[in-house]
Amino acid sequence: MKSLPEPTNTPLRGGARLNWGVLAPGSIASHWVASVHANTDQRVVAVASRTLSRAQEFAAAQGIEQAYGSYEQLVADPRVDAVYIAAPHSEHRKLALLVIAAGKHVIVEKPIALNPAEAQDIVEAARTAGVFAMEAMWTRFLPQMTVVEQLLTAGDLGDVLSVTADFGTRFPFDPESRAFNPALGGGALLDLGVYPAWFAHFVLGAPSAVTATGSLASTGVDAQSAVILDYESDAQAAFTTSLLVSTPIAATINGTLGRVEFPGPFMGPSSFRVTTADREVIDWVEPTGFKWGEGLCYQAVAMAQYIADGLTEAPWHTLDDTLEIMAVLDSARRQLGSL
Ligand SMILES: NC(=O)c1ccc[n+]([C@@H]2O[C@H](COP(=O)([O-])OP(=O)(O)OC[C@H]3O[C@@H](n4cnc5c(N)ncnc54)[C@H](OP(=O)(O)O)[C@@H]3O)[C@@H](O)[C@H]2O)c1
Repeated sequence: MKSLPEPTNTPLRGGARLNWGVLAPGSIASHWVASVHANTDQRVVAVASRTLSRAQEFAAAQGIEQAYGSYEQLVADPRVDAVYIAAPHSEHRKLALLVIAAGKHVIVEKPIALNPAEAQDIVEAARTAGVFAMEAMWTRFLPQMTVVEQLLTAGDLGDVLSVTADFGTRFPFDPESRAFNPALGGGALLDLGVYPAWFAHFVLGAPSAVTATGSLASTGVDAQSAVILDYESDAQAAFTTSLLVSTPIAATINGTLGRVEFPGPFMGPSSFRVTTADREVIDWVEPTGFKWGEGLCYQAVAMAQYIADGLTEAPWHTLDDTLEIMAVLDSARRQLGSL
C-alpha cells in the first residue's frame, strides 16, 4: 500500500440545497447551525423552541429569518424542506413523528431514540410516509471515514479481527442534567457509547453477541461500561464509555494485513495512521483543519444530495444500521440494569 485513496464525501459547496428548520435550539443545535452556515450552501430558514424568546435569540445569533415558539408551528411552515431535531433523546421519537406527519424530511440527533421500539416507530413512520430520515451519525460523513471505508472495501487491511474504541467525557454530577437524568435518556451508553458502537458496526456490522459490564450512577443510569462484541467471523470489538472520566476517544481497526489507528477524537474531523503488516507507515492528515463541531456540516450536505437523488435513507448510515446499533446499546444497557 503506497498511498491512501482520496476522500469521497459530498462536496460542501455547489451541490443540492435544502431549506432547513431546527427544533430545540440548545447546545448542539448552535454548533450544527454555525457549521452548516459557515461551510455550506445549506440554509436554516426557521428555528423553533418551546419558548419564543429563546427561538428569537437563537435566530438573531445565527442569522435565521423565522423564529417560532412551538415545534408544531415550524413543521407547518411550507418553506421548510427538512428538519434537524436537537432535543434530548427522550424527545426524539415524539418530535420525529411530528416532522414525518408534516411530510418533511428529518435528521434526528444521536441516538435516534431511547430504545429499539422507539427507533422502530420512527423508521416505520418514515418509510410509510416516504420521507427521508436518518440518525445524525455525523462521523460517518467525515472525510476520514470515507477513506477508511475504501480500505475496508478493498480488503487492504486483510481480515479484520479486532476493533477497539472509547468515548468517555467527564460530566459534573447533576441528577437533573441530560447526562444523568433517566427521564431525559441519561447514561453514557446512549449519549457517548453510540459512537464506538457505531464504529464497530461500521467496520464489522451487527454482532452475534454483546457482553457488557460496568457501574451505575446514583440516578440509576449507566455511568461507565466496557462492552465486548463477538461476531460470526470470530472477530471481536471492545469499547468503553464513561460519564465519569474523559478518555482519548481513540479507535483502532486491526486486520491481518494492517491496522488503522485514530489517536482521537475519532468521532470528529481527525487524522489517522495506517501501519501495514510489513511495518510500512502511512499517515492520513485531516485536510480542513476543522475542529470537532465544525465538521457537523458534512451530514447535512450528504442528506441534501441524497434527497435530490430521490433517496429516502442514507446509504452510508441506513435506518437498518441505526436499528442494529440501537440493539447493541439496548442489550448493554439491559445487562447493566441502566434505567
Ligand atoms: N452530534 C454531537 O456531537 C452531539 C453533541 C452533543 C449532543 N448531541 C445530541 O443532541 C441532543 C441534545 O443535546 P444538547 O447537549 O444540545 O442538549 P441541550 O443543550 O440541553 O438542548 C436541548 C434542547 O432541547 C429542548 N428540549 C425539548 N424538550 C426538552 C426537555 N424535555 N428537556 C430539556 N430540553 C428540552 C430545549 O430547547 P427549547 O426548550 O428551547 O425548545 C433544549 O435547549 C441529544 O440527543 C444529544 O445526544 C449531539
